[in-house]
Order: sequence, then C-alpha cells, then structure tokens
Amino acid sequence: MQKTVHTIAELRARIATWKQAGERVAFVPTMGNLHRGHIHLVERARELAPRTVASIFVNPMQFGANEDYAGYPRTLEDDSRQLEAVGLDLLFAPKLTEIYPRPLTDMAQVTVPELSAILCGVSRPIHFSGVTTIVAKLFNMVQPDVAVFGEKDWQQLVIIRRMVADLDFPVEIVGVPTVRESDGLALSSRNGYLSAEERVMAPALYATLRATAEQLRAGERDCSVLEAAAKTQLEAAGFRPDYFEIRCSDTLRKPTPGDVDLRIFAAAWLGRARLIDNLAVVLD
Ligand code: PAF
Repeated sequence: MQKTVHTIAELRARIATWKQAGERVAFVPTMGNLHRGHIHLVERARELAPRTVASIFVNPMQFGANEDYAGYPRTLEDDSRQLEAVGLDLLFAPKLTEIYPRPLTDMAQVTVPELSAILCGVSRPIHFSGVTTIVAKLFNMVQPDVAVFGEKDWQQLVIIRRMVADLDFPVEIVGVPTVRESDGLALSSRNGYLSAEERVMAPALYATLRATAEQLRAGERDCSVLEAAAKTQLEAAGFRPDYFEIRCSDTLRKPTPGDVDLRIFAAAWLGRARLIDNLAVVLD
C-alpha cells in the first residue's frame, strides 16, 4: 500500500529499509496535477525497479516572476488516489520550507549553462536552473537507481542527462514517449488552462510539427524556411508562437548537413496556456 511522507527524514528512513534489503528504487519527480502521462511514467518506473517513489512539489525556483506559480493547480488528494491505484510505493509531498529553508536567492543552485539558454530558455531564462536544482536535490534525498522523465519536455530530459553526467550522479535516466489525446494534443497539466474553443484549436501544434517532419523527410533541408513557414501556420491557427526550431535530437545544436537524428521543437501560446511539444525525425 502507498504511503505519503512530507519530510526528508521520513523519506530517507523508508527508502533506507529497501536499500538495506538490496531493492532497487525507481523515482518519478512531478509537480502534481497528474494526468495519464504521469501515470504512464509511474507504470514505466514499476517495470524498472521493485520499489517506486514519486514526488509532488510545485517548485517555485523554476517559475519566472510573471509565470503561473501561484495559480499552478494543486490537487494532492486526487493525485494521491491515482498513484495508489497504479501501485506506487511511496509519495513524497514536501512543504515549501522543507525544500527551501532559506529564501530562494540565498540557496545554492545547479546550472547546466549552454543547454539551459536555448529554446525554452530564451523566454524562460531561470527555468532550467530551477529544474536542475530541484532535481539534484530530489536525487540526493531519494538516491534512486533510476529516474523517469517524460519526453514531452525533451529539452529538460537532455539537460538532466547532462547534469547527471557532469556531476556524476549514480542515477540512470529513462525517457518515456509523450502520451497524446486522440487528436494528437500532448497531455500536459497546462492543457487545463485552455478554453473549450482553444482546446479545439490546440492540436494544430502537433499537426504543424508533423507537417514539418514530412517536409524534412521529403527532402527539404532549409530549416529557416521550414521554421518560418511553421510559425506562419501557427499564427494562422490562432497561436502566438514562442519558437519553432529544428535541432539535433541529443545535443540540441542546430543541424548541419549530414546530421540525421533531428527533432523539431515548438512552444506557442494559446490564450493563457503556453504549450510545448516536440517530434523526432530520423532522416535516411
Ligand atoms: O517536469 C516536471 O514536472 C518538473 O520540471 C520536475 C522535473 C518535476 C521538476 O520540478
């Protein structure tokens, strides 16, 4: 049966008993407001280790001053029920002061500089330092053998892999493919911000990624032309595009001739929701 703990001491005590018994631990960090995508991460975690831990913590350090930290949906009771139903062993749901006992500006931080400054990092300059700091802290608290992240946040996944490599965390990082609605919209807690009308418009983001992928596969190689055309299509579909960029999948650098393992990244506003998505394209 799932147990919920709120302090680092309780978390460590529980996990210590498993470690002493030689049991591997898989970890799924989340900010709560769970949907099928998150549940799928826990299902994958359960395949990877006999013991599973998830965290729910809306991390203020990864939100900019004008972003949705205060209004981010907090649905702990419902989340807890869903996690219990999927067979999670331990939920860590700390209070703010348990994680940040001092003002955020006075806390040590972990940064992966270059990768954090591109794509989403351009319009969200402090976001990824906030993510890497909380994930590093959670890794030190849970000490998992393996941690699971969704591929919808592909840039986050690449940055966390780099942090783990550069700082020698003994944690295997596993990415899980994006879960989508039947019309292609990637599941996200922020989809809840969409009005009924915007929800009908929202699948155009994924449709534009797919159309661009088809053009790449058909031989079009001028990324700037494809990116500009995609932004125009998104605007026509009612979005305010933040960026639309074709990059190398693993390094996130701009592709040069001969690169075949590509990924298309998009972020766009629809009403008050900032939606992100990405799609892999492997060229012949
Ligand atoms: O992907 C998320 O939900 C968050 O960025 C994470 C990894 C839980 C860190 O707060």
